[in-house]
Amino acid sequence: MIELNISCPNVKQGGAAFGTSCDMAAEVVRQVRKATSKPLVVKLSPNVTSITDIAKAVEDAGADAVSLINTLLGMRIDINTRRPILRNNVGGMSGPAVFPLAVRMVWQVANAVKIPVIGMGGVSSGRDAVELMMAGASAVQVGAAIFTDPYAPVRIVDEINEFLDSKNISSVRDIIGTVQPW
Ligand SMILES: Cc1cc2nc3c(=O)[nH]c(=O)nc-3n(C[C@H](O)[C@H](O)[C@H](O)COP(=O)(O)O)c2cc1C
Repeated sequence: MIELNISCPNVKQGGAAFGTSCDMAAEVVRQVRKATSKPLVVKLSPNVTSITDIAKAVEDAGADAVSLINTLLGMRIDINTRRPILRNNVGGMSGPAVFPLAVRMVWQVANAVKIPVIGMGGVSSGRDAVELMMAGASAVQVGAAIFTDPYAPVRIVDEINEFLDSKNISSVRDIIGTVQPW
């Protein structure tokens, strides 16, 4: 399968320009759809007003699944030099701090589209992965956590299984989208 990243915030005039407009996101997906019959996963940016609108636009344009979230645009400044610490001035932020935003966006998108949602953003434990799946993710990706623990994905799978066993749930499929909103 192909994961089409239309959401990278770290390059000037880069992928994020496509991912923040419904029309442009749909056009890129239509062109890639024409070029391949492989399953096409479109990776969405959280740096938008309505991620559900973008998700619906790429679904209509032929995406087989969506993955979210990419990093949130952040900035830090060295107060001694008054220079931004990133040479691009701003850059993508990930890790545990973005997890609640990922849960919210996965939940919103899963309720807005019919195609599967792959969830990510700040996942560092099996508990996080279960939570994202209950929000509606059919699968989960792990990024930043691997920098501090290269074996994080293996541990997270074990922790998911421990949770399922403790609740007598036989398949991980049975937790997808099972949040009961107030
Ligand atoms: C150092 C770094 C590099 C990244 N590079 C890419 C990339 O090339 N393509 C992409 O789609 N996402 C990229 N991401 C975003 C991650 O895939 C992921 O969407 C985001 O970091 C949220 O998940 P996490 O908190 O588990 O890392 C990168 C993230 C980090 C931290």
